Amino acid sequence: MSEKRRVARVDDLEEAGRVVVELNGREIAIFEIDGEYRAYLNWCPHQGGPVCEGELTGRMEASFDRETLSTEFEWTTEAETLVCPWHDWEFDIRTGDCFSGETDLPSYTVSVEDGDIVLDT
Ligand code: FES
Repeated sequence: MSEKRRVARVDDLEEAGRVVVELNGREIAIFEIDGEYRAYLNWCPHQGGPVCEGELTGRMEASFDRETLSTEFEWTTEAETLVCPWHDWEFDIRTGDCFSGETDLPSYTVSVEDGDIVLDT
């Protein structure tokens, strides 16, 4: 059975863009991305590192032209890739999907009620 818990204030997220809270012995990070909220377990599925303390960065994609044998690089997103500080696994901050195709980040449903961040655990 799920339980709703108020864990932080929206104001807590305004400057930092993220906040890490402890709930039932687990660290959970809440991120604010363009006015939407996402919550993930601060535990990397690779080897348990504090993934949510990692850098948020953009994503570069490469395209290769077989005719000219040239490669072009292009930044396709800004600050939407969460990089685990231990071994650099990368995750989509909007979905928790792992870009390398490995296990995704465990997530929680998050909502806002009267300025409070509410987690459905
Ligand atoms: S623990 Fe996160 S990449 Fe290894």
